[in-house]
Amino acid sequence: MDGCFVVEGKAYVGGAVRYVSVLVEGGVVRSLKGRAEGCRVVQFPRRHLILPGFVDIHVHFRDWGLSHKETLRGGSAAALAGGVVGVLDMPNTKPHIRTAELYAKRLAEGSSLPIHYGVHMGVPEDLSELDKAKPRSVKVYPEDVAQFGWAHVEALLERCAALGCTAVFHCEDPAYISDSRPPEAEARCADRIALYARRGFRIHVTHVSLPYTVETLRGLATLDATPHHLLLSSDKCSGPFCKVNPPLRGEEQRRRLLALFLAGAVDIYATDHAPHTMEDKLAGAPGICSLDVAASLLLRFWRDGLLGLDDVLRLYSFRPARFAGLEASLRPGAPAAFSVFRLEEFSISERDFKGTCRFSPLEGLRAFGKAVAVASRGRLHLLETGEVL
Ligand code: DOR
Ligand code: ZN
Repeated sequence: MDGCFVVEGKAYVGGAVRYVSVLVEGGVVRSLKGRAEGCRVVQFPRRHLILPGFVDIHVHFRDWGLSHKETLRGGSAAALAGGVVGVLDMPNTKPHIRTAELYAKRLAEGSSLPIHYGVHMGVPEDLSELDKAKPRSVKVYPEDVAQFGWAHVEALLERCAALGCTAVFHCEDPAYISDSRPPEAEARCADRIALYARRGFRIHVTHVSLPYTVETLRGLATLDATPHHLLLSSDKCSGPFCKVNPPLRGEEQRRRLLALFLAGAVDIYATDHAPHTMEDKLAGAPGICSLDVAASLLLRFWRDGLLGLDDVLRLYSFRPARFAGLEASLRPGAPAAFSVFRLEEFSISERDFKGTCRFSPLEGLRAFGKAVAVASRGRLHLLETGEVL
């Protein structure tokens, strides 16, 4: 943390692109016009852009009993490769994070990573665990509803309200889930969440997959959407590598979801980066890896004139950072959390993946902007040489 470095190039700050010289000392941005004796200067000349760091509020870094699928270290490598400086991990680890003790253990392990790390707590059987853990957010899975019932979830909402935490829903009602996961499972859950939200509970619904969910919950709960639900549909993507929960929907639904997203009806962009081994995928495990390439897929919408750069940053930096209690900005005085992107088009390939999971049905899609450097937690990661300052 005590080192210093200077990153020079064009940056998007305060709503405009301008040339900056970002001096970072002791992990903090000291100045945007900085030069200091003895600090390494890294210049990014033309066709590069320095951006506030991206933050992903839905990833699965696994580890523990599932470290063959992904680890905290491997997941961090995927994040850095994608220009992501902060994540919120999911509690469906092995064991599931349902106690204050496990929650604290996980946070302690995450504290030594090169990116900012947080985790949503899992639904505890004994809700007093929430009082002890004091999490910012609790993740509710359909499996939790099936196991504990909606009454327990409502008690959790009450407890969370008293503690100031947000309930994050994987919104599919287990009553409608059997061998298949029809749209009704998400739609009926959305109806129920609307009632809870009208009672004043603070709720976030993650990986919305239906336009209906957005239309029902817009303005009542906060929402996020994933790159795969926005860009892939069951019409064109099927088979084990496209298996994910909630499932990919038909092309017509996908287009309508994307239109709502581009119109600003979804608050946050988040990956649900869910690594599995190739063997587990072939055996039917649900989940898609995308953390390494998510920012580049979002920046493509900017390239195509469908989003402004300010929209991109609101969706995948400022709002998720606020959700996670982080600041990802280039503000002098703030902890350095920014990334440098080379502004080029590319087609996503296996080479772009640096975590444990190196395959994804997103391969072949067109993307824009490749992360080449990431400033996070006091260090500057130069991704092309592997050097860390
Ligand atoms: O596709 C999914 N994968 N959906 C989930 O809800 C869980 C996740 C996982 O952990 O693999
Ligand atoms: Zn997930």
